Amino acid sequence: MQSEKEIVLESGARLPKVGLGVWKIDQAVAPTVVCDAIEIGYRHFDCACDYGNEPQVGQGLRDAISRGVCRREELWLTSKLWNTYHREEHVRLACERSLADLQVDYLDLYMIHFPIATEFVSPETRYPPGWVEDPNSGDPSMSSVRVPIEETWRAMERLVEGGLVRHIGVCNFGTSLLRDLLNYAEVRPAVLQVELHPYLAQDRLLRFCQEQQIAVTGFSPLGAPSYIPIGMADECESILNDPLVSGIAAAHARTAAQVVLRWGIQRGTAIVPKTSQTQRLRENLDLFDFELTDDEMVGINGLNRGRRFNDPGEFCEKAFGTYFPIFD
Ligand SMILES: NC(=O)c1ccc[n+]([C@@H]2O[C@H](COP(=O)([O-])OP(=O)(O)OC[C@H]3O[C@@H](n4cnc5c(N)ncnc54)[C@H](OP(=O)(O)O)[C@@H]3O)[C@@H](O)[C@H]2O)c1
Repeated sequence: MQSEKEIVLESGARLPKVGLGVWKIDQAVAPTVVCDAIEIGYRHFDCACDYGNEPQVGQGLRDAISRGVCRREELWLTSKLWNTYHREEHVRLACERSLADLQVDYLDLYMIHFPIATEFVSPETRYPPGWVEDPNSGDPSMSSVRVPIEETWRAMERLVEGGLVRHIGVCNFGTSLLRDLLNYAEVRPAVLQVELHPYLAQDRLLRFCQEQQIAVTGFSPLGAPSYIPIGMADECESILNDPLVSGIAAAHARTAAQVVLRWGIQRGTAIVPKTSQTQRLRENLDLFDFELTDDEMVGINGLNRGRRFNDPGEFCEKAFGTYFPIFD
């Protein structure tokens, strides 16, 4: 079920369709960006242990709440379980750390960040732990461990029972992993978060989730721009320069980014665009007073080329010397 600005989940809870993604928001500016975002109207924040800025995001949330801009209950806060904490005995510890850093006593959504389990790193040793076991070794690499997702999911379910989190979900899962999870889940995944933009439309995954009543959030909804500065995409791969998108933007007197983001929400997903710039915070939320025509939606759908920018099968080998495909 959908309302104008929110997706109504199976539980009846309302997930705001546009959230602020906070990956790569510098610690130094995160409190201000988050507080400004709340003032501008954002109520959904997409956080994670791995982004290394939960204390600063928490500071921004606290500032806005203490100034009376909004109440905690009006916010939708998502965080994610990192790969090093998949063992049953580490899940609660990881969640409690995110709660403490964000300065809240519950999360609206806690997600398994990747279907990848790596060796535990104690928070005293390093936090956030990152991808490799020993970053100071001459030849750092990932060390995977044998933890079934069922074990992790059971521990996630205990977090719901314990009142630490309201919903649980998964990121970077395909239909096969979801089907398996649905066989044993006592608490169903409320949300799937995956990479979604016009160059990676994933229609079949969306259709499956719709049938299963799992809401979907698209990450990297603008596609390449997040990945160009870190060498994972080329400038020429930006959907924001696509002539079809530019034409539609001109027809609506909107920006290319707004057209791409509107496409995301109009096909029924939530989106979590990241920006550190105040003007773009406004731009990326200002999506509810125009609509793409059916022809425009079909045209943008036709741009799909299956281009995945965030692919552990690529970046783990380049960055961490470990071949780790998960989508193949
Ligand atoms: N679950 C997962 O595995 C996973 C993986 C990746 C991301 N995520 C989540 O998804 C969020 C969004 O993804 P993302 O950060 O990769 O990419 P994104 O939101 O699609 O794009 C962010 C990039 O686009 C720029 N940008 C933002 N608004 C713009 C606009 N209106 N016009 C032009 N450029 C604009 C930003 O620069 P400025 O900051 O300079 O504006 C930044 O370089 C993340 O922050 C994170 O919360 C989750």
